Amino acid sequence: MADLRWYKIEEQIPEGDFIRQVAVAGKKLCLLRNEGKIYLLQNSCPHAGGILSGGWCEKGALVCPIHRYSYNLENGRGAEGQGDYINTYPLQEKKDGLYAGFRQGLFRRFFHKD
Ligand code: FES
Repeated sequence: MADLRWYKIEEQIPEGDFIRQVAVAGKKLCLLRNEGKIYLLQNSCPHAGGILSGGWCEKGALVCPIHRYSYNLENGRGAEGQGDYINTYPLQEKKDGLYAGFRQGLFRRFFHKD
């Protein structure tokens, strides 16, 4: 995971299962806890732009509130027949909070050797 950059999630993380929109590194994403595990996913539904943080979890998938397409929490894959997917982002628990990992874009990799 050498080319991941980690950004702190500043929002308070509630106890128990939850689903909400958060802003991390300038992106609006969907943060949720389902059955004790936290996930960070794309917040806009690839079908027609529904807001996934307004949806719910069912059988290990995030369900869009608009037309009920569903996406696997672990790998973002759409349910059978949908032929689509959402982005998932790795999370890391550090002493001072929760961090999200983003792949560095090509531009950054080529022009900023930091
Ligand atoms: S907009 Fe999400 S299922 Fe249609």
